[in-house]
Amino acid sequence: MNRRVYVLLSLLLCFAMGAHPQSYQPTEENLKSRQEFRDAKFGIFLHWGLYAMLATGEWTMTNNNLNYKEYAKLAGGFYPSKFDAAKWVAAIKASGAKYICFTSRHHEGFSMFHTKYSDYNIVDATPFKRDVLKELADECHKQGIRLHLYYSHIDWFREDAVWGRTGRGTGRPNPKGNWDSYYQFMNNQLTELLTNYGPIGAIWFDGVWDQDRNPGFDWQLPGQYALIHRLQPACLIGNNHHLTPFEGEDIQIFERDLPGENKAGLSGQNISTLPLETCETMNGMWGYKITDQNYKSAKTLIHYLVKAAGKDANLLMNIGPQPDGELPEVALSRLAEMGKWLQTYGETIYGTRGGCVAPHPWGVTTQKGDRLFVHILDLQDKALFLPLESKKVKKAQMFIGKEPVKFQKNKAGVTLLLNEVPTDIDTVIELELD
Ligand code: GLC
Repeated sequence: MNRRVYVLLSLLLCFAMGAHPQSYQPTEENLKSRQEFRDAKFGIFLHWGLYAMLATGEWTMTNNNLNYKEYAKLAGGFYPSKFDAAKWVAAIKASGAKYICFTSRHHEGFSMFHTKYSDYNIVDATPFKRDVLKELADECHKQGIRLHLYYSHIDWFREDAVWGRTGRGTGRPNPKGNWDSYYQFMNNQLTELLTNYGPIGAIWFDGVWDQDRNPGFDWQLPGQYALIHRLQPACLIGNNHHLTPFEGEDIQIFERDLPGENKAGLSGQNISTLPLETCETMNGMWGYKITDQNYKSAKTLIHYLVKAAGKDANLLMNIGPQPDGELPEVALSRLAEMGKWLQTYGETIYGTRGGCVAPHPWGVTTQKGDRLFVHILDLQDKALFLPLESKKVKKAQMFIGKEPVKFQKNKAGVTLLLNEVPTDIDTVIELELD
């Protein structure tokens, strides 16, 4: 076949398969922010919206089939008098988190920022009248912590949003909605978010799964992704669709499970080569839930962070701020405890990659060049075998205090010989590899 005919046929085949002949090429800035994201390891998720007032989580509107016009009346009473962005950011920064992901608009459809494209927003529809996102963004930039924005593809309030499997009982008149109008609305809002709030580290989409019973549904993501990358090339795109990443995405998200695990049933997808992030709740709910005081202990949270790092993933830990604008007291104390731990052990987490010894029931390893950090989380023994195979260990020492650790070599690896059974939250041993 002559070359021209071959090229023409391949192009035709590409179009026929719906593929774009030119695949997504991330810019230099984008690749740089992927690295920074990978190094950051720890972020705090904030789910805040009108649902905080109902205090039963962010799904109440659809779970209880609340009428969209009645639900909207919550806005008239939303006055989070104690909201203080400087305090939030300071507490989060002190936890050691390197970024904040804030819900700009969740499935309920209320915009927590000042938008021109709908009155149903925190400035125009509430007596509070303050653009909380602007205040948060300014503080993040001032205090030097990155801001990511959650943006839902679902909207249980808007009449033009096409119905998916949720939000069917909120009283909106037309299941078909008006896709063109809704798509334009989302892109207008994304343009505002990426124009009026300074550098945004990532856009974190959610809700594609709402159309999973309608497989032909086209969310027109390529156009939306291109818009975001055009407005802010360094802005990372992540999508919590519970699938292997789509073209145009810069990070891969897992919900309530570490990559490769699937206890919650949302994470059967393959692990890609993109930077990874796993999100988890500090209690059991994303939005504020008054009856859920079941906060995970500091030890559990630290173990989760360390295990994520061992799997080369970031941890995005969620807090649901209260309707009065404060972060729950227990959450604040957990943030402080994590911060204290990270002050000592941060070097073994930030900027590392999953180590050359895979995760085991006793713990995980993280690595920076030839420094291997062995994180012992649960070991009822004084000896620990590491399957290092041909890798040579030059030196082994306790990370804290730098006391040498004895070890024995054999063909399959080395056995660390500890003085006592480890009891710390995380006993870290540092190895120097050859
Ligand atoms: C789920 C939920 C949503 C939450 C998100 C966070 O997709 O629908 O309420 O915001 O997970 O991961």
